Amino acid sequence: GGYEYTDLLKIILSRSARSARLTTHFDLDFPKKPQTEPYYCYKHGRICKPTTEAFKFLHRYSLDTLRRIREFAAVRTDARVLVVHGDSREADFPPVDGVITSPPYVGLIDYHEQHAYAYHLLGLEDRRESEIGAATNGKGLKAQEDYKIQIAKVFRRAAQAMPAGGHMVIVANDSANLYGDIATLSGMEVEYVIHRQVNRRTGRRAGEFYESVFIWRKPGGV
Ligand SMILES: C[S@@+](CC[C@H](N)C(=O)[O-])C[C@H]1O[C@@H](n2cnc3c(N)ncnc32)[C@H](O)[C@@H]1O
Repeated sequence: GGYEYTDLLKIILSRSARSARLTTHFDLDFPKKPQTEPYYCYKHGRICKPTTEAFKFLHRYSLDTLRRIREFAAVRTDARVLVVHGDSREADFPPVDGVITSPPYVGLIDYHEQHAYAYHLLGLEDRRESEIGAATNGKGLKAQEDYKIQIAKVFRRAAQAMPAGGHMVIVANDSANLYGDIATLSGMEVEYVIHRQVNRRTGRRAGEFYESVFIWRKPGGV
C-alpha cells in the first residue's frame, strides 16, 4: 500500500535474508552450497546448526535498524546527500574537497553474486559486467595489471573533481602490493600509509586480517 517506510522495511528484509541463508558461520561471504545439516563450525569451535527460521533475524534487525536510525538522527544535518548507482569510471563526480573510499580489490569478491538476495529484493539493476577486480576474473598477473588500469581510471576521474592539494583516503588490503603503481598511474602523491589490524566480525580467520589506509594528495596547491 502507501506505507511511508516501505524502503526501510526492504532494508530490514534484505539484512535478515542475508543472515537467514543456509550457510556455515565460518563462510558467510563465500558459501559454496546450501548447508542443510549440522556441521563442525571453525568459527565457534563446536557443532553448529543451520538456521531453520527467519523470524528471529527479522526481529533482531528491526530493533537494530531502529537503533541505528535513532543514533544517526542525533548527528544528522541537512547536508545534501547524492547516491549514484553508476560505474565510477564513467560517472560524473560533483566538485568535492576530498575523497574517502573503500574500492573493490583484485580477485577477491563478486559483489553482485555475494549480494544476489539484495539485488532481487530491492529490484536493483544487475551491472555485474562493470565490477572492477571481480573474483571471476581471478587474481593472476593479467588480472592485476588490468585492475591497476581500471581503478586508476576511477581515481583520475575523482581527482579531477578535487582542488590541487586535496586529499584522497583509500582503504584496501593491498596484499599484491599494487597501490604504489596505482598512485603513479592516478597522478597522485603518496603522503602517508597506515597499516592496521582489523578484527573481522565474520569468517574463519577472524582477527587475522590487515588492511592499509593510503593517504594521497593531488599535486599542486599549498
Ligand atoms: C570494498 S566494497 C566497498 C563497500 C562500501 N564501502 C560499503 O560500505 O558499502 C567495494 C564496492 O565497489 C563496488 N564496485 C565495483 N566495481 C565498481 C565500479 N566499476 N563502479 C562503482 N562501484 C564499483 C562493489 O560493488 C562494492 O560495493
